[in-house]
Amino acid sequence: MHQPTDEIEARPADNDDGYESDTESTTTSLASILNKHTYERGLRYHAFQDGKYPFPNDENEQNRDDMKHAMIMELCEGKLYYAPIREEAPTILDLGTGTGIWLIEMGDKFQSAICQGVDLSPIQPPWVPPNVQFVVDDIELPWTQKPDYFDYIHVRHTLPFVKDRPKLFEQAFQHLKPEGWIEFQEFEFFPASEDDSITSTPEHPYHFLDFMKFHKQAMTALGADVTGVTKLQSELAAAGFTNIKEEVFKCPLGIWPKDKRLRLVGLYLRESILDGLVGMAGRPFSAGLGWGKEEIEVFLAKVRTSLKDGSRHTYLPFRVVYAQKPKEKVQTKVSVSAVSLDNN
Ligand SMILES: C[S@@+](CC[C@H](N)C(=O)[O-])C[C@H]1O[C@@H](n2cnc3c(N)ncnc32)[C@H](O)[C@@H]1O
Repeated sequence: MHQPTDEIEARPADNDDGYESDTESTTTSLASILNKHTYERGLRYHAFQDGKYPFPNDENEQNRDDMKHAMIMELCEGKLYYAPIREEAPTILDLGTGTGIWLIEMGDKFQSAICQGVDLSPIQPPWVPPNVQFVVDDIELPWTQKPDYFDYIHVRHTLPFVKDRPKLFEQAFQHLKPEGWIEFQEFEFFPASEDDSITSTPEHPYHFLDFMKFHKQAMTALGADVTGVTKLQSELAAAGFTNIKEEVFKCPLGIWPKDKRLRLVGLYLRESILDGLVGMAGRPFSAGLGWGKEEIEVFLAKVRTSLKDGSRHTYLPFRVVYAQKPKEKVQTKVSVSAVSLDNN
């Protein structure tokens, strides 16, 4: 039975849910902006840390996030996670939890778990399992939770927006228990194909390919790294994690696959992109590329048509990367003693 959450908290202090007790609470000063939003060109955005996340947080975007959750569940054949999580009372943290749909399912699955979700937006439902708590916060600020507290940290569809990745890995490392796991589930945001069906020619232009090129440029201009997931393995190793594993899935776009399950996955992805085009282009194309509203609208009309072109066998790589904090502290930095080149 789900219980209603109390008011969504911001950076809570002084409780026994894994938060440090000596943290000066900023709850009161933040409370006034927590439940507010900002608006731009008819779209609604988060107000706390205004401008940090470039996509909307309105109902349309929330439905899209939930649709993408259903899509990933199909793609991964029902698996919510890949790391070998301990089943007895795990402490779980979901960074950039969004609507909290993944965490709520984890709370239902692991009834003895303590589950915390953090997001810039207060968009989580009021009725959640009793072991699930949501906090409005910026995951790039110093974390207020206790060190060595979590068994498992989960990040999905959020890594591209992290500006200082080494800092995030450092904080995650510090707040995981020894032998705890971190897991990332992220798209590598660039279209791929097993045949030559996604080539764009003047006679048969593939405007979705152009969209993704412009999107990458725009996101880069805003400080986001849409293909950063490809560097995760080496970055996690540099941060001191071990037992690093990766699984790569091909997530079809559109209803071209013959396999019924993959056709459903492709339908979910196509619909979630069609529903999200205005939000995906809105801030990034105007703030990142300097495009005007009309220019964006004309271009998106072409992109919509190309997304419905059944001759394109597009997929997006979806990568699951997980890694473990070692039991003992490992010396990751090699110290090199000075060698004299002086022969005398
Ligand atoms: C695409 S949504 C993914 C939501 C969820 N992880 C899922 O897979 O359903 C990305 C989420 O990350 C959140 N986010 C981005 N940057 C953040 C930050 N610095 N601190 C907290 N949340 C952040 C956004 O507010 C948004 O809800």
